[in-house]
Amino acid sequence: MAPDRLKARLGLIELRSPLIAASGTVGSVWEWAEVADLSPYGAAVAKSVAPVAWPGRPAPRLAPAGPGMLNGIGIQNPGIEAWVETMAPRLPTLDVPVWGSAVGETPDEFAMVAKSLVGAGVPVVEVNLSCPNLEDGRMFSMDASSAGDVIRAVVSNCEAPVGAKLSPNADDIVGVSTACIEAGATFVTLTNTALGFGIDPRTGRPLLSGGVGGYSGPGLKAISLRCVYEVARALPGIPIVGCGGVMTGLDVVEYLLAGASAVAMGTVHLAEPRAGKRIVRELTRELERRGVTVPELVGEVMPW
Ligand SMILES: Cc1cc2nc3c(=O)[nH]c(=O)nc-3n(C[C@H](O)[C@H](O)[C@H](O)COP(=O)(O)O)c2cc1C
Repeated sequence: MAPDRLKARLGLIELRSPLIAASGTVGSVWEWAEVADLSPYGAAVAKSVAPVAWPGRPAPRLAPAGPGMLNGIGIQNPGIEAWVETMAPRLPTLDVPVWGSAVGETPDEFAMVAKSLVGAGVPVVEVNLSCPNLEDGRMFSMDASSAGDVIRAVVSNCEAPVGAKLSPNADDIVGVSTACIEAGATFVTLTNTALGFGIDPRTGRPLLSGGVGGYSGPGLKAISLRCVYEVARALPGIPIVGCGGVMTGLDVVEYLLAGASAVAMGTVHLAEPRAGKRIVRELTRELERRGVTVPELVGEVMPW
């Protein structure tokens, strides 16, 4: 049972812990539940799912890159119908609220997936806006009006709270976040991976078959943290899930101080599937040392 000082709140969503397992890094959640204790987490986000199966990119699609890693999975997923068939019966058996994650190529596709996710029993839908818009090939999350169109379509088609997961590559992260909140999102997740690229100097070939991919892990933290800090300052009180490069309890503290109300962690699970237990222990120790609760740290970054 998580101690009271860990309780977190994201708008109207109550969490027993501020730790969230990030989409795509804990499989379909139920396989991960076979090896890890899920009680340290307030929620786990399932892998993003599209209206129909996406095959993903060919190997190689994961590669170490300095202090982080590159992935070019291409959002491989079985399509919403198959997802609902395998996941719906399992959701109530897991010791953590499992949130859905929707992707699509048009606002209507996102809305259709979100509606089915909620029908299958997920309490919250995160909208993965880091995928290309069929209209212009740019990521929805690069542009306030495209991101807002998707969130509006999703919110008007599903009963559950909706989160907008954004890209650190957006020129104007405050503008995109504002558009998503105005369109009805309950929270923003800052951030998804950053665009990245690497070359194997021995072969001269890109590290990933798809060339450019998503960069995650410790090297991402300063970039995602900047997004959280700027959005929290521009839009005080907006519910934010911080995400990017969290490896320790002190990383979580940094995100809370910058203005996140909850913190998602992804890459750390690939090397350490049971990381939640360690990180929650480190976080609890730090909260006790300071004599504060999680909500009391949110946005408390000190001025110089
Ligand atoms: C292998 C891999 C697969 C991912 N798949 C998804 C996905 O399906 N949907 C999504 O919204 N984010 C996905 N992400 C992004 C993570 O959820 C997270 O936002 C990102 O990796 C930054 O956090 P981290 O540095 O803690 O990993 C994926 C990341 C990795 C490394």
